[in-house]
Amino acid sequence: MKSAATILISFLAILLLNTASAQDTDPYLGIIPAPASLVKSPGTFIFSKLTVVKADNPKDKAVELFKDFLLNNRGLNNKVVKYSPRVKGKGISVILTARGSENLPAEGYKLTITPRKITVIGKGAGLFYGIQTLIQLFPVDQKIAANLPCLVISDEPRFGYRGMMLDVSRHFFTVQQVKKVIDLMAAYKLNNFHWHLVDGQGWRIEIKKYPKLTEVGGTRQQTMFGNNRDWPDGEPYTGFYTQDEIRDVVKYASGKYINIVPEIEMPAHSDAALRAYPELMCTPDTAVKTPARTTGLYCPTEETFTFLENVLTEVMELFPSKYIHIGGDEANKQPWKESAFCQNLIKQLNLKDENALQSYFIQRMEKFLNSKGRSIIGWDEILEGGLAPNATVMSWTGEQGGIAAAQQKHNVIMTPQTTGLYFDHYQSRSPLEPVSFGRYAEFSETYKYEPVPKVLTEDERKYIVGVQGNLWTEYVPTVAKLQYQILPRLFALSEIAWSKPERKDYKDFSEVRLAKHFERLDAMHYNYRVPTAFEVIDTMMIGSQFTMAPKSVVPGAKIVYTLNGRDPLDTDLGYESPIIFNIPAGEKRTFKTVVITPSGRRSLPTSTVMYNQAPVAAINYTGNSQGLKFTLIKGNFTSPDQLDYAPTDTTGITKTLETAEFRKIRPSSGIVFEGYISIPSDGVYNFSTATYNDTQLFIDDNKLIENEVAISLLKGYHKIKIKNFYNAPAPGARRRGNPTLRIYMIAPGTMDKKLVTADLLYN
Ligand code: ACM
Repeated sequence: MKSAATILISFLAILLLNTASAQDTDPYLGIIPAPASLVKSPGTFIFSKLTVVKADNPKDKAVELFKDFLLNNRGLNNKVVKYSPRVKGKGISVILTARGSENLPAEGYKLTITPRKITVIGKGAGLFYGIQTLIQLFPVDQKIAANLPCLVISDEPRFGYRGMMLDVSRHFFTVQQVKKVIDLMAAYKLNNFHWHLVDGQGWRIEIKKYPKLTEVGGTRQQTMFGNNRDWPDGEPYTGFYTQDEIRDVVKYASGKYINIVPEIEMPAHSDAALRAYPELMCTPDTAVKTPARTTGLYCPTEETFTFLENVLTEVMELFPSKYIHIGGDEANKQPWKESAFCQNLIKQLNLKDENALQSYFIQRMEKFLNSKGRSIIGWDEILEGGLAPNATVMSWTGEQGGIAAAQQKHNVIMTPQTTGLYFDHYQSRSPLEPVSFGRYAEFSETYKYEPVPKVLTEDERKYIVGVQGNLWTEYVPTVAKLQYQILPRLFALSEIAWSKPERKDYKDFSEVRLAKHFERLDAMHYNYRVPTAFEVIDTMMIGSQFTMAPKSVVPGAKIVYTLNGRDPLDTDLGYESPIIFNIPAGEKRTFKTVVITPSGRRSLPTSTVMYNQAPVAAINYTGNSQGLKFTLIKGNFTSPDQLDYAPTDTTGITKTLETAEFRKIRPSSGIVFEGYISIPSDGVYNFSTATYNDTQLFIDDNKLIENEVAISLLKGYHKIKIKNFYNAPAPGARRRGNPTLRIYMIAPGTMDKKLVTADLLYN
């Protein structure tokens, strides 16, 4: 056997890092997002309770931020006086001023620290962001005095729109909880809070003219999130914001230079509104025998337009935002196809089809909002059927919508679900992650995203006005989960939104700078996902000797480990120095770790199996028929283990792992696929699965589950078996996305490869 283990061991070696010395050499002194320019100089400024704060306007909101920080984080009540440049103060001081900001770019600031004086120069948001940076330079401790490094920072944002979306329709979050998200955004220089107030599941904003919107539309029958990911809990779920509460949040956000973009979805995702006012739905043409189930789509009648204009009028009274988001995504237009009214309207307006009708709908709303001095934002489907003349496009399905819109000279906000910006997606491939939407958006992916597509010309690039992260909350029933989903991904978002690409440095960011911010999160009582000790986790390594040297980026964190297969507890061994393992031939050892932060938060357990496995010989397979044998197994399942105890019935041959056809005959079922795959050369192969439900994968009867995903194979054919199950969506519960089962294989020295029909064989 070749020494395959060495490749994997080198993965671990590069993760070794020395936080203390790395921090000293960090060019950004731990600041997130990375400033445009930072020049260190010798010396330190000692901030004490005697330091006087001088400000143009001691009541300015940026100055209030600094005072709050000193009081709440350091127990200091420093004197704040009016700044007058003519009065030469002798003492040590912090000057917060707009003087000298004339040539600074919008939202830009200059921060200078010398041994006796700190000066933050900026206007409005610029001063605010300069103070946010200054705050980050303070140590996270409760001591009275703080040593701040001497330096000069000149900083400005890359994008004018730096956004974060929170869905409060699927699950509702209180005013206090929302304010805590806003605090975090402000601390990391994000400036637009996109509030997804309305969706099929619940209408969450009081509209005085239409009280039933919240009385009826504010309640969903049940949530998806029960004890099981597939079945809802049967409990009605309610919540909405009064107009006073909305005003309070808008004012609070404005105090932190955050604009709130309200979203009122149309024409689809409107089931909640239509539960309250069903007369706004289309009536199917009497000629349609079996009309489509309602898909939460407004009918484009004058009554609907009046209703929406009245709603938006109240929304505009509450939100001063120039932008009003009107949704526009995922409209299934079947009810329009079946409505005689809509078909007549299409003819009358000389429109091409239902897409053009949606475009007409959006354009009418745009005209209304433009007439009130506002602009619309819509999801990228508003491109279908023709873009409204002044619309900004939020590109979510991928980058294509954003590219097309920029080419049509429309402003674009990038938030593709394919590039790590959907914070409802899983943060790692660990099966122990809390249940989330069934895709992955690892932190590194968020960080590496470049919002300006290369295919755009220089001129088109200026239409990319910003970038945004989105948190959809179907799988987010608690505020702890909310914070877990956005942290630390929000840090990565902050850096791609604010910092120039040439200032990005993933290694410094993830291994050094993050450290202090986890401490800050603890001090501010936010929940967050504690990074696990290894970047490569839940894997199996094949070989005879291994060195384990886990590290955590969280300062002062303890790493506990086990070798007996149990998840590590506080009482287990604490890691101190690299451990060498010699594995006897044919045997396995499992090295499990958990990171415990000084505040007591824990990472998920990681599990690394070290297996001195003899390679598995190929079997004699002579067929070449593409596809797999399948067996359907009757029942509703929650684990593939249960398939062994249930009656099988239908069997056959299938060309894909797609279960759509099976679902038609059997809405819920177990399924086993069996066949062969060809292994091109001797070596260690890694396998993984991606689906909504737990899946078991067997290669040559070796069960490769969870952590045990590698196997040493000899060239030739090998048996493959997959055990999976699927359940019918519960009534009323919607499942976004496509629940396709995917199997990936990594051959030695290659990247993930999805197994497709051509790779699957039977006989
Ligand atoms: C979306 O995720 N449907 C905008």
